[in-house]
Amino acid sequence: MSSSKKIAIEAHNLTKRFDDLVAVDRISFKINEGEIVGILGPNGAGKTTTIRLITGIFKLENEAKVMIYSQDLTNSPKQLKKQFGIVPEVSNAYSNYTVLQNFIFFGTIYGLSKKRITARTSTLLERFELKDKMHTKIKALSKGLRQRVNLCLALLHEPLILILDEPTSGLDPMSVGVVRKQILDLKEEGKTILITTHNMQEAQQICDRILIMNHGKIIADESPDDLRKKFKPSSTLLFKVQGSLSVEQKNDLKTFFNIIEESNNRISIISNNPLEDISKLNEFINKNKINISDFALKETSLEEVFIHLIKTDSHSNGGVHHEI
Ligand SMILES: Nc1ncnc2c1ncn2[C@@H]1O[C@H](COP(=O)(O)OP(=O)(O)OP(=O)(O)O)[C@@H](O)[C@H]1O
Ligand SMILES: [Mg+2]
Repeated sequence: MSSSKKIAIEAHNLTKRFDDLVAVDRISFKINEGEIVGILGPNGAGKTTTIRLITGIFKLENEAKVMIYSQDLTNSPKQLKKQFGIVPEVSNAYSNYTVLQNFIFFGTIYGLSKKRITARTSTLLERFELKDKMHTKIKALSKGLRQRVNLCLALLHEPLILILDEPTSGLDPMSVGVVRKQILDLKEEGKTILITTHNMQEAQQICDRILIMNHGKIIADESPDDLRKKFKPSSTLLFKVQGSLSVEQKNDLKTFFNIIEESNNRISIISNNPLEDISKLNEFINKNKINISDFALKETSLEEVFIHLIKTDSHSNGGVHHEI
C-alpha cells in the first residue's frame, strides 16, 4: 500500500447517454496515487465508457467533473491527458508498421524528442523482451506480443497513471502472467493503475480495490478482502439433481434459496446458514422425491460474490450511488 495520501483521479457524477441508453449513470469514485483499482463488470456494464469519460475521449456532461491530481480535466485537457498511458480495448497500434515504427510514430505524437524516443524505445524493448521483434510488423505478432507492444506504447511518455482496458483478455496463461507481472512492477514504481476486467480472480490478485459496475452504476467499491468479508460467513452449497426439475420445482427452490448458478442440473446456492439451509434442502428433496448427487459445501469465492451481486442488482434500484 502506498503511504501517499494524494488522490490521482477524482470522478464526480459521470454520466454518458447514447440516445435512450444511459451507459454510465451518475457515478463517482476516487483513485489514490499508487493504487491499482479494477473496474469489474459484465459486458455492457459501462467500463469502457467510464474510461473514455475520465480520459477526456468523451465530453463530460454538465454536472460531471474529473480531477487529475486536483486539477480539473476540463480546464487543462492537453496537459492532464499527458498524465495518462492508455491501453485501449481495441489497440491503436498501426498494424502495417513495425514495432519500432510504432514507437517512433507514437513518441512523435506525444511530443517526445528524437533522443528521448530512442532512449525510451531501448528501455522498453529490453524490459518487455521485444528486442528481437523490433523490425516485425504488428500484424505479424501474436496477440500476447501485441499486448506487450500496447503496454510499451502506453508507457512511452512515462505517464503517472495507467489505464488498461482488459489488458489480459484473450491471452494464454503465460502471457497473462507476463502482463500481470508488468502491472505489479509498475505499481511498485509508483504508478497509479486503473484496469477493467471480467476476471474476478485477476481483480483479486492484483487490485487494491475493486469497483463492481452493472447497468452503468457502481454497485460495490471495496478491497478484495472486504468484498469477501461482506459475504462472510457465506458458504456455497453445490449439488447435482438427477433427472430434471419442473418449472414449479425450480421456482419453489428459488423462493427458498439464493441460487447463483444453475446449469446442466448443477445448482449452487449461497448460504449464510448452511446447517439450516441443508435441512430446508432436505425437506425440499423429500417432498419432491428428487435425488441429488455430488453434494459439496465450500466457502463462497469472490467469483460467486460477483455473480451474486450482479444477479441481485436490478434496473430499478440500480445499486448504490457512490458519493465521495
Ligand atoms: N459509441 C456508442 N454508441 C452507442 N452505444 C454505445 C457506444 N459505446 C457503448 N455503448 C453502449 O453503452 C453500454 C456500455 O458499453 P461499454 O462499452 O462501456 O461496456 P463495457 O462494460 O466496457 O463492456 P465490455 O465488457 O463488453 O467491454 C453498452 O450497452 C454499449 O452497447
Ligand atoms: Mg469494454
